[in-house]
Amino acid sequence: MGDKLVDAAKAAMQRAYAPYSKFHVGAALEAEDGTVFTGCNVENASFGGTICAERTAVVTAVAAGKKKFRRIVVVSDAKEPVAPCGMCRQFLAEFGTGLSVVSVGSDGTTKSWTLAELLPSAFTGADFAGGAGR
Ligand code: THU
Repeated sequence: MGDKLVDAAKAAMQRAYAPYSKFHVGAALEAEDGTVFTGCNVENASFGGTICAERTAVVTAVAAGKKKFRRIVVVSDAKEPVAPCGMCRQFLAEFGTGLSVVSVGSDGTTKSWTLAELLPSAFTGADFAGGAGR
């Protein structure tokens, strides 16, 4: 710990809007140039409209003009580190499956993976004609 990305993810977690699940999640995404973008989960009364912390961070980064990322750190209320949901794995994969994914539990336990480990054989824009490719 003592990692600036962990601190940034924890600060973002404080801003989670989670009145339904009461489960607070924060994420900090580091771009290739070292810039850090954060996100928190934002829930909705129409539950399917909820957006996870990881996707919020990606959307914030892309809106700021960044599309190349090194690492994402996720923190939550859970004692054990949580792994990103399937939708977030797919969303992150859009920008490269080499991404390092680190999750820290409230007890300080850390788990890390590459996105390729979390989402093997990912479907990407490179898989179809006219796709974004790499
Ligand atoms: N959630 C995240 O923000 N990220 C994860 O990795 C797991 C789940 C959010 C979505 C929802 O607001 C709450 O946690 C419960 O699923």
